Amino acid sequence: MRHLLDTRTLSREEAIRILDVAEDMADTQSREVKKLPTLRGKTVVNLFFEDSTRTRISFEAAAKRLSADVINFSAKGSSVSKGESLQDTAQTLQAMAADAVVIRHGASGAPHTLATSGWISAGVVNAGDGTHEHPTQALLDAFTMRRRLHGAASRGRDLDGVRVAIIGDVLHSRVARSNVWLLATLGAQVTLVAPPTLLPQDLSAWPVDVSYDLDDTLAAGQDAVMVLRIQLERMNASFFPSEREYSRRWGLGRERFARLSGGTIVMHPGPMNRGLEISPAAADSGRSTVLEQVTNGVSVRMAALYLLLSGERGTDQTTNEEGR
Ligand code: ASP
Ligand code: CP
Repeated sequence: MRHLLDTRTLSREEAIRILDVAEDMADTQSREVKKLPTLRGKTVVNLFFEDSTRTRISFEAAAKRLSADVINFSAKGSSVSKGESLQDTAQTLQAMAADAVVIRHGASGAPHTLATSGWISAGVVNAGDGTHEHPTQALLDAFTMRRRLHGAASRGRDLDGVRVAIIGDVLHSRVARSNVWLLATLGAQVTLVAPPTLLPQDLSAWPVDVSYDLDDTLAAGQDAVMVLRIQLERMNASFFPSEREYSRRWGLGRERFARLSGGTIVMHPGPMNRGLEISPAAADSGRSTVLEQVTNGVSVRMAALYLLLSGERGTDQTTNEEGR
């Protein structure tokens, strides 16, 4: 793998390969000594232009557990505030011999630009770009679903026939986009549930069903419900009447959560707005995979860095220089 920029162009085989390598990595994480020598001598740069807790820290943990050296760069407090461009920033880091660059950026397409511009030769991993994609989040979500639903028999499996409802602020969510593409590739049936104002206008190319009624969708039976954060920082207008009204119609409140059927799992990428899109009753329940998702994120990111840096580069998804 040369870069990991999106899930839209990831094939079923490539996705399952990453998930299976992540299973191997997870096995090593239950040992007392979690560190592997695999990426000794490699340097991973975490280049974060937007805030992050989980993604930044788990990429750091993943790189360190593979014995890579890690350089953490946050735009805040850097020369970006003096007007330094993405190109100059990236080339400065490349001059310090980065082998992989993990980038989060507010502009959709920034990781793609970095991967295809010729500015740097390092492998690029998208850690979330604007409202576009967040591929490692979708991979860790798929990994979590696969484990919860298939248990010990997860390896090699896809998510054929698994029903997933993605609820809430789809419009601003790169997590939703990456999940929609990956889940479709893995054979899952996705229903988006949101007020019309929080859905993209044209969904004709998306492999999903759309519902405006959360209770109906839940009553139909879902294997997983993925609650999205209301991204107030990306909203410059009012997208719903009030937080109370949003919570009543679209939130996974205590009562709605209590009506969930069978073994439905409750997912959220974090950070959560407790009391708005999700209630503590749902977030802290046995059905919730919120913290499992974080734990699994380390294994999935170890797999991504391993496949990028261990000599398998140039063999699949993102081989061509157009950034595919
Ligand atoms: N943390 C995820 C992201 O950065 C989801 C969110 O912020 O709502 O896309
Ligand atoms: N889920 C996720 O990407 O979280 P952070 O924004 O904290 O990295």
